[in-house]
Amino acid sequence: MIIKTNASGFDHPASSEITPQAIYQGRRELIKLMAKGVAGAALASWAGRKALAQTLEKPGKLAALPGGKSAVAGAMTLEKITDYKLVTSYNNFYEFGTDKADPGKNAHTLVTKPWSVAVEGLVRQPKTWTLEDLLKLSPQEERIYRLRCVEGWSMVIPWVGYSLSELIKKAEPLGSAKYVEFVTLADPRTMPYVGSRVLEWPYVEGLRMDEAMHPLALLAFGMYGEVLPNQNGAPVRMVLPWKYGFKSAKSLVKIRFTDKEPRTAWNKAAASEYGFYSNVNPAVDHPRWSQATERRIGEDGLFAKRRKTLMFNGYEAQVAQLYTGMDLKKFF
Ligand code: MTE
Repeated sequence: MIIKTNASGFDHPASSEITPQAIYQGRRELIKLMAKGVAGAALASWAGRKALAQTLEKPGKLAALPGGKSAVAGAMTLEKITDYKLVTSYNNFYEFGTDKADPGKNAHTLVTKPWSVAVEGLVRQPKTWTLEDLLKLSPQEERIYRLRCVEGWSMVIPWVGYSLSELIKKAEPLGSAKYVEFVTLADPRTMPYVGSRVLEWPYVEGLRMDEAMHPLALLAFGMYGEVLPNQNGAPVRMVLPWKYGFKSAKSLVKIRFTDKEPRTAWNKAAASEYGFYSNVNPAVDHPRWSQATERRIGEDGLFAKRRKTLMFNGYEAQVAQLYTGMDLKKFF
């Protein structure tokens, strides 16, 4: 994201308070899985083996999380997958800094175990789910999605997870539940920029109920056949391929059902620039730049051409009916 104000007054924790626990836990888990022979078999059977071969730097550092090929319409683009190295080193995760390189450098402090997600609000079955229970709720699927950032770059990423609708069905929303709010972790001890004035914390996002129920709305636990790296939103995040990347909230701790449109972090920061819907739309410019084209990360160089941005990021056939009759310039 690009911000207008200069952030100041960051409250950094002393480095002695920081334990790179997530990293070493991830390795220990992989070693455990290796001992059982699970990780090797899982990686070998992973539907995206071809994708693995494409990556310059193979993952192989975190615990395996294989997913069966998704049957959801539109879920498996055949475009070239972006290198794992780029996807893990060029991130927006403002809790760890505002530079694209910051999350990759700083997010080792995120503690992802134990982890739970509270599902609450206007539902019949409120429940705090442990990560382990969430992982088991539905079979893991691999989905290869384009991710278009509002800043004008895009990537193609093989995610692992299942449709958010599986969890919503378990919660049994009341008829009065019209929106879903996503609240993410805001822990100043492990996230050096939480407390800074760059955004209001926690990072909050939201969807209308029918958007949240759409089969493409993915609750993701992994990518490239492994659990999520910290900088990409471990241990559980949203991925909404037809919306600008900032709608896909990372490191989720709460999913709340409401009757009012949630105030989102970016909308609070700059309402005229970041609307609630934030559907990828080449015909609606950001107030400060065009959204008509994009740069695919990894296609740099003197002769790299910008690509035309597609309506709903190319997922028009699947999602356009959610917005029938809406003025998408007004509801941007
Ligand atoms: N979630 C949280 N909690 N904090 C953030 O700063 N940034 C968003 C989104 N989710 C963000 C977040 C933005 S702007 C983008 S483009 C995507 O995460 C980037 O996801 P990626 O790093 O996996 O590509």
